[in-house]
Amino acid sequence: MLTSIVSSFRAPVVHHHLRIGTLLTRTLASTTESVTDGSRTHSTVKIKNLVKSQSDLEGKEVNIRGWVRTVRKQKTLTFLELNDGSSLSSCQVVVDHASLPEEIVKEAQSLQTGSSISVLGALKESSGSKQKYDFQLSSMTLLGACPPEEYPLAKKRHSLEYLRTLAHIRPRTNTVAAVARVRSKLAQSIHRFFEKEEFFLVNTPVVTASDCEGAGEMFRVTTLNLDDVASLPKKQGEDGASGKGADYGEDFFGKPAYLTVSGQLSAETYACAMGDVYTFGPTFRAENSQTARHLAEFWMLEPEMAFTEKDGAMDNVENMLKFVIGRAMEDCDEDLTFFDKFYEKGLKDRLEKIQEQDFVRLSYRDAVQMLQEEIKKDPSAWQFPEVVFGTDLQTEHERWLCEKKFSSPVFVYDYPTGIKAFYMRQNDADGGETVAAFDLLVPGVGELVGGSQREERLDVLLKRLDVLGLDKEDYWWYLDLRRFGTVPHSGYGLGFERLVTFITGIDNIRDAIAFPRYPGSAEF
Ligand code: 4AD
Ligand code: MG
Repeated sequence: MLTSIVSSFRAPVVHHHLRIGTLLTRTLASTTESVTDGSRTHSTVKIKNLVKSQSDLEGKEVNIRGWVRTVRKQKTLTFLELNDGSSLSSCQVVVDHASLPEEIVKEAQSLQTGSSISVLGALKESSGSKQKYDFQLSSMTLLGACPPEEYPLAKKRHSLEYLRTLAHIRPRTNTVAAVARVRSKLAQSIHRFFEKEEFFLVNTPVVTASDCEGAGEMFRVTTLNLDDVASLPKKQGEDGASGKGADYGEDFFGKPAYLTVSGQLSAETYACAMGDVYTFGPTFRAENSQTARHLAEFWMLEPEMAFTEKDGAMDNVENMLKFVIGRAMEDCDEDLTFFDKFYEKGLKDRLEKIQEQDFVRLSYRDAVQMLQEEIKKDPSAWQFPEVVFGTDLQTEHERWLCEKKFSSPVFVYDYPTGIKAFYMRQNDADGGETVAAFDLLVPGVGELVGGSQREERLDVLLKRLDVLGLDKEDYWWYLDLRRFGTVPHSGYGLGFERLVTFITGIDNIRDAIAFPRYPGSAEF
């Protein structure tokens, strides 16, 4: 894996790069990044950029920095494979024994996997046949040694399960770094898409008093001292005696507070003033699921669009996904090629095809009918063979629809009112039996997006809160939006880690986020 050198000399560090054994110091400057070695100044380049424009840099001395992957000693040459995380490709640094002082050769040969170094060198025409250029080392600074007997990544291959126990070191592996690069690109592309579509980014709160999804899966936020239960302020009973439970009136926010499960309700307030907005941040669910699709802390993209009905929201989902997949294919080709090879054969073809096809749009009623017909053929093949109107579709149903029946992303819309959240707009056509909700199901994942048109009619929403036994007082501000200049509006939530698994072909959502939180796990 040779790599070459680069033209785009990047930003902001000037530092003194001294010979082995001397101290390396850095100072910040504003526009250029360079290394000063005695009287000479060299540009610092990322290894990914070395690959891009080798010929521009041929012969120029530059600085690269990173972590040593392997050291290969031969009679006259030593090869260091250096990776700086900027790309999957490492740089093969050639240490020429004949042309370098012995102490440099010795130091290079004694490097261990995982050590960090800063290297000066230049691209020279390769004498070997494999690649055009070699990166020839001229000097080197050891920044941090790495004892091989203790370094957990000293051996080459590790399972992703094992790497999760080393979440602080795992980004030094090809797979985890590639996921992180793709994830970063996806997040940037999401912002680009909504900027292009003239949406405003609204940062909605993480601490909230309302349970948007009504599923009771919230983490409590409190400053009450749970270590001293006897000291907790007690709720007063009617007779003045202390009743059951803590008195949250005395808690930090003066009421029960939680980590948000969704920024939607807050996003709606801004959509109902500014038109098109989105929020993109962490959300939290205390559901006790140990699955490959659930996290207790995950990031959600939530656009909210005023003057937009259900179909417009589905159009937005489809356009957004095609845009970000296109960006990923263009900008992350090396990483996606890697995933295609090692994690999901045909991944790039699958992504290519998604960009070209119209996503299927199917009513819940039709989906149920198709499932019933299929299940009838062999009920024993299904874990949940009972599917009727009102059934909350299981992952196996969702995956059959998008993987087997259509091999395409599939929107299922107009779900039964009884299995959906309070805020979804009731459909008049069937007397409110269904709501204008939609889920997007995608191959390999199942539900990637959940959204709906929102109930904008005050009287209908009030009735719905009553039916569900929800306290209107808690939603006074949400109801005000319907009282003062209400408008039809729609939105959705996309689970960002599910998107990362969908685009990389990685199986487990726990590998799609830097530090996964799930029941029993909050190390690191
Ligand atoms: O379908 P959900 O629950 O929808 C909402 O929360 C709406 N308030 C969103 C909105 O309309 N603004 O969640 C949306 C998406 C799901 O489709 C799924 O991709 C993801 O969030 N998601 C999870 N991802 C990882 N771990 C979990 N525990 C998740 N729960 C939901
Ligand atoms: Mg959902």
